[in-house]
Amino acid sequence: MAAQPSLTVVDSDAAGVDRAFRADVLAGLAQRQKAVPARWFYDDRGSSLFEEITRLPEYYPTRAETEILAQWCPEIARRVGVGRAVIEFGAGSAAKTPLVLGCIEPAFYVPIDISGDFLRASVEPLAARFPALPIVPVEADFTKPVPLPEAIGGLPKLGFFPGSTIGNLVPPSAVDLLRAMRATLGDDATLLIGMDLIKDPAVLLAAYDDSAGVTAAFNLNLVARINRELEGTIPLDALRHVVRWNDPLARIEMHLEAQRAIEFTVSDKRLAMAAGETIHTENSHKYDSRSAAMLLLAGGWTPHEHFFDHGRRFMVILAAASEARMAP
Ligand code: AVI
Repeated sequence: MAAQPSLTVVDSDAAGVDRAFRADVLAGLAQRQKAVPARWFYDDRGSSLFEEITRLPEYYPTRAETEILAQWCPEIARRVGVGRAVIEFGAGSAAKTPLVLGCIEPAFYVPIDISGDFLRASVEPLAARFPALPIVPVEADFTKPVPLPEAIGGLPKLGFFPGSTIGNLVPPSAVDLLRAMRATLGDDATLLIGMDLIKDPAVLLAAYDDSAGVTAAFNLNLVARINRELEGTIPLDALRHVVRWNDPLARIEMHLEAQRAIEFTVSDKRLAMAAGETIHTENSHKYDSRSAAMLLLAGGWTPHEHFFDHGRRFMVILAAASEARMAP
C-alpha cells in the first residue's frame, strides 16, 4: 500500500483490543462533533480498499504524482545530486519509490515505517530491482525524530514523503510532522513532498465519492472495524458516506451520516446519534503554492521548486531544511 503515517505502536489489553484505538474512538464519539482519526481506516480490509481507490478513474492523485515523478525525476536528480541517502517516510510505494531510486542514484535507501509487515513487503521487490543499493529499513514512528543508521551519518539526505498524506493532517499536526522530519534528516537535508492542489470542487468531490462506491466502502469499513474490534453495535445500514468540500479550510471532509436516530454501544459505552448527525472520519487538505509554502516554512523547510502534472492537479515540492536565522 502507499505510505500511511501510522501514529501509534500497537498496545493491546488482555482481550487483545488495541488500547489506542479504543481510547480514540470513545473520546471521538463523546465529542459534540463526533470524529474518529483517519489513521484507523487502515486495517487489512481498509488498506486493500485504499489500494483500490488509487486505481479508480475519479481518484487522480496517485496517477498525477506518478506522472510528475516520471517526467521530472531527471531534473530533481540534477538538483539534489547523486549519492544521497534517500529516507522515505512510510513503507515504499510500488509505483513511486522505484521512479525516484532509479534516477536519484542514491548511496543508501532507508524506508521508515511503524509497521514491520509493510516494511518487509515493500523492501523485498525493491531489493530485487536495485540489487546494488544498500537498503536499511527502520521500524519506527516517524512522527517523532528517528535516529538514522550510523552508516549514513555523513551522507547528505533526501527525505521522500509522497502521496499527499500530509494533507490528512490538520495544520498543527502537519507542522509537528514536518518538524520531526527536519530533526530526523538534519541541517543539510532536502525534502521531496507530494501535495494535492486546490481545484474545482466537483473534481474533488468525485475523487472522494466515486461512482463504484469504493470510497464509501472504505469509509464504512471504519465502523465495521469498530463493531468487530471494540464490541460495537453501530447499525451499518443506518450510516451513509458523505463528502463535503470545506472551502474556507480548503479541505475535503469525509463523514458518516445517520439516516435515522440510532442508539448503540461501543465497549459497553452507550451512545446515540440523531438523524442527520455525522461522524467526521477524514480531512484531506488541498494546497496551492503559497499555502504549501506557509506550511513548509512553519515546519522548518524552505520550498525551492514545484513540479506539476500536465493537468496541474497535483504538485511535488522540493524543499531544503531552513537555516535557523534571525528574521525581521
Ligand atoms: C492517504 N490519503 C492521502 C488519501 C487522501 O486522498 O486523502 C486517503 C483517501 N481517503 C479517501 N480517498 C483517499
